[in-house]
Amino acid sequence: MAYILITGASSGIGEIFANEYARRGNNLILVARSEDKLQAIAKRLWEERNVEVIVLTKDLSKPESASEVFEFCRSNDYDIELLINNAGFGMIKDFQNQDMNRIEQMLQLNICNLVKLTHLFLPQLIKRNKGGVINVASTAAFQPVPYMTAYAASKAFVLSFSIGLKEELKGSNVKVMALCPGGTDTAFFDTADYERSKLMIPLDKPEDVVKTAIERFRKGDSFVITGLANKLLIHIQRFLPRDVVTKVAGKLFK
Ligand SMILES: NC(=O)c1ccc[n+]([C@@H]2O[C@H](COP(=O)([O-])OP(=O)(O)OC[C@H]3O[C@@H](n4cnc5c(N)ncnc54)[C@H](OP(=O)(O)O)[C@@H]3O)[C@@H](O)[C@H]2O)c1
Repeated sequence: MAYILITGASSGIGEIFANEYARRGNNLILVARSEDKLQAIAKRLWEERNVEVIVLTKDLSKPESASEVFEFCRSNDYDIELLINNAGFGMIKDFQNQDMNRIEQMLQLNICNLVKLTHLFLPQLIKRNKGGVINVASTAAFQPVPYMTAYAASKAFVLSFSIGLKEELKGSNVKVMALCPGGTDTAFFDTADYERSKLMIPLDKPEDVVKTAIERFRKGDSFVITGLANKLLIHIQRFLPRDVVTKVAGKLFK
């Protein structure tokens, strides 16, 4: 049986992906650390949508965890038709004063295990010759963001990686897309320990982000920026000097 595997499915954008794909009748494998939250979502989706939802509790900031996720699926004969690498977190603080262990965990989660999961599941996607991978990047991927410097750089990696891989797979029906939301109303800023009252940007609804993502993935886009204002901003800044754009981005989170 085919499944959609969603990392970071216990809240925010990942949970909405789970809701939306369950509504479309897909079976799901949900991965995150919070077992209780995942079990509650699985129970709700089973009751509401009558789809099979498998829960896998895993800390994807640990180097071995991507292989463990893959081995879990392989040993249970769970065939993955769509991998959604959504789990991630950000840190908002001057880089010098960020905890290095936490930075390493962030890079392992946002970059290394995203790449590893993609590499592990790609052969079966290619064999099926359909489905694909959605990697959650960010509008922070398009320019440096001072005070979110390492996070923004991690998302620049995800964007570049996804577009490059999509091109490598152009002869097949396997799609790869980077999803680039702007500020979105989830637990993201709480995890980043950033006071919402300080936010200088309006937050989008995760439901809108996911709806756009699903539409654009189906159309075969290599990346999508969600929200009209975000799209315009990213477009305009291409015509401005990089240092100016960086300075303005830095003012948002100082
Ligand atoms: N919200 C925004 O403004 C925004 C903007 C652009 C991009 N994004 C990106 O969107 C993605 C989803 O974030 P969100 O906004 O939905 O925030 P969120 O509500 O905090 O969700 C983050 C998800 O990632 C999971 N996660 C965090 N650390 C993990 C770990 N070590 N191992 C496994 N799972 C882990 C969390 O589950 P557990 O805590 O249960 O593990 C949770 O399910 C992230 O990649 C984020 O960078 C967010």
